[in-house]
Amino acid sequence: MKVIGIVGGPRRDGHTARLVEEVLAGAREAGNETHIFYLSDMNINPLEYGEGGYVYPEDDFVSLMRHLETMGGIVIGTPIYYDHVSSRSKLFIDRLYYYSMSHGAEYRKLFPDGVKCVNAITCGWDHPNAYDEVLEWMNGRMTNYWKMHIIGTLKGYGSHKRPVKDNASLLAEAREMGERF
Ligand SMILES: Cc1cc2nc3c(=O)[nH]c(=O)nc-3n(C[C@H](O)[C@H](O)[C@H](O)COP(=O)(O)O)c2cc1C
Repeated sequence: MKVIGIVGGPRRDGHTARLVEEVLAGAREAGNETHIFYLSDMNINPLEYGEGGYVYPEDDFVSLMRHLETMGGIVIGTPIYYDHVSSRSKLFIDRLYYYSMSHGAEYRKLFPDGVKCVNAITCGWDHPNAYDEVLEWMNGRMTNYWKMHIIGTLKGYGSHKRPVKDNASLLAEAREMGERF
């Protein structure tokens, strides 16, 4: 199956990227095809509104769409910015509106059912329960709107003190999660 990774932070070698990459490595080990998208390399804009309703910009999100429409799994990784997902991650989520029933049943049909999903966050706050509510929010959106099946969540907390790249137990957890796809 195709598993895609979304990195919602700007640091190509940052904590979030490392975590998403490790999940995808596990997914590959289990025989899946993987693709990773670093949102900071992409020009993804907010929805606009015109006379006919919402306007879906012709930008790099379009190149993502063929992958979204054929994926069996997704890993969404975001750093925590001011207690929530980063703006890049939120824009990615907003742009999924293209596939909403509000846009039209024909668009909703293009989005696959039952996609397996891992949501992952990294944050500076060094507490095991840090931002559980954000992970819950991500899980809820992906489940309620997109009928995804959450197979796990990951959290790289205290990333300043304990960089994800050196956090062997978290990386092992990420790899094992990837093998579940
Ligand atoms: C603009 C900004 C806002 C941040 N806000 C928070 C925050 O509210 N809580 C927190 O724990 N860490 C916060 N951080 C720290 C990041 O979440 C943390 O360093 C994260 O692991 C960075 O991931 P990256 O290496 O993938 O960019 C913030 C960092 C930035 C740049």
